[in-house]
Amino acid sequence: MRLTAYPSGPLRGTVAVPGDKSISHRALLLGALASGTSTIRGLLEGEDVRATWQALGKLGVPIERAGDAVVVHGVGVGGLRAPDDVLDLGNAGTGVRLLMGVLAGHGFAATLTGDASLRRRPMGRVLRPLQQMGVRVSGQDGDRLPLTMTGSDQLMPIAYASPVASAQVKSAVLLAGLHAMGVTEVSEPSPSRDHTETMLAAMGAVIQRGYDAAGRPTVAITGQPELRPFELDVPGDPSSAAFPLAAALLQPGSEVVIRQIGMNPTRTGLIEVLQLMGADIALENAANLAGEAVADLVVRGSALRGIEVPPEMAPSMIDEYPILAVAAAFAEGTTLMQGIGELRVKESDRLQAMADGLTAAGVRAAAGPDWLRVEGGRGVRPQGGNVVDAQHDHRIAMSFAVLGLNAAAPITVDGAETIATSFPGFVELMQLLGARVEAG
Ligand code: S3P
Repeated sequence: MRLTAYPSGPLRGTVAVPGDKSISHRALLLGALASGTSTIRGLLEGEDVRATWQALGKLGVPIERAGDAVVVHGVGVGGLRAPDDVLDLGNAGTGVRLLMGVLAGHGFAATLTGDASLRRRPMGRVLRPLQQMGVRVSGQDGDRLPLTMTGSDQLMPIAYASPVASAQVKSAVLLAGLHAMGVTEVSEPSPSRDHTETMLAAMGAVIQRGYDAAGRPTVAITGQPELRPFELDVPGDPSSAAFPLAAALLQPGSEVVIRQIGMNPTRTGLIEVLQLMGADIALENAANLAGEAVADLVVRGSALRGIEVPPEMAPSMIDEYPILAVAAAFAEGTTLMQGIGELRVKESDRLQAMADGLTAAGVRAAAGPDWLRVEGGRGVRPQGGNVVDAQHDHRIAMSFAVLGLNAAAPITVDGAETIATSFPGFVELMQLLGARVEAG
């Protein structure tokens, strides 16, 4: 699908974005391991979460729709059934890596694969600790899909020091630890999103958060608990809200309200950075939705200044750098984003994709091994007029659509169907706000 975003006027209106992708994957996976039936409202029904849903179905977990809710009939910790088919997780990095953690605790073999983007992404970061716990892996290359893993119903608990701040690695180890006898601990260089440990604790698992001798954050789980089923309302995804939010900020005269967005502090880095750049973003109607903070975001068109974004910000806004780079193209001065080498192993090489796409749109931008620099136009809009290949990456597709709304000439995104992995209804939502985005 081709999507063209045309220069548009101010955006106005009140919208809600789909449910949080990270929480939706976890709700299905943890609901599957509960002893009883869980009910989820506001589940993201994007392709990524559907892939996790289907994989769980092949592992013997009945999941069904009941009105506007999704009901998961949990089979208990260690209760999955051996699949008689390959588990294809499509584009879903979170789906496949967290599922590996769950499968680790089951004494059967499962073959995992994904789309062209997922098959290029490193899996060794998750498999290494799981192998220490007793998992066996075979594949052409243990770091890449497709591969077959054989779990164990007698996993060894470990203390694992993750070299990367990655919620997917942390969660996979915790989910394996859930099945092991004893205490499994994982530490990371800085705190990544904490939805897994928050949900597990709410379901009755013993979770201990702390710091190790080196001052690194740690999470420990005591294995083999019985998990209580839950009723969950999924907050709006802050990583999806980022696109209408940035589009509104970049158009003088815009005023947009985005309702009930997750405000977990491990996810709000983009809002903090944009506010430092001069963005007018107010939080209203703050509330708590089953242990997760939420608020309405009220966004007004704002003049932005370029800033240096330090590496410490990366975990709390790891998926938001592409759209921040677009915002930076409209700021006064230079924005330097550092410590973001992880962007090279996301759904695409996001550092290269942003540097190339921005340059093609007439913006001065450059990427290094772990940094991205964008020079603002000093009052002159980026020229646009280019075609960008989404490279199977939903966030690249939506970032350049937002750029097109605000550039001097339209931008076309090729391969825009990838947006459906995380943000079904993106085009319609943007149109509702007054944006000129059209398929074709
Ligand atoms: C996610 C963790 C992050 C993020 C991804 C979702 C999660 O990945 O980029 O979109 O739900 O745990 P990493 O763990 O690789 O940083």
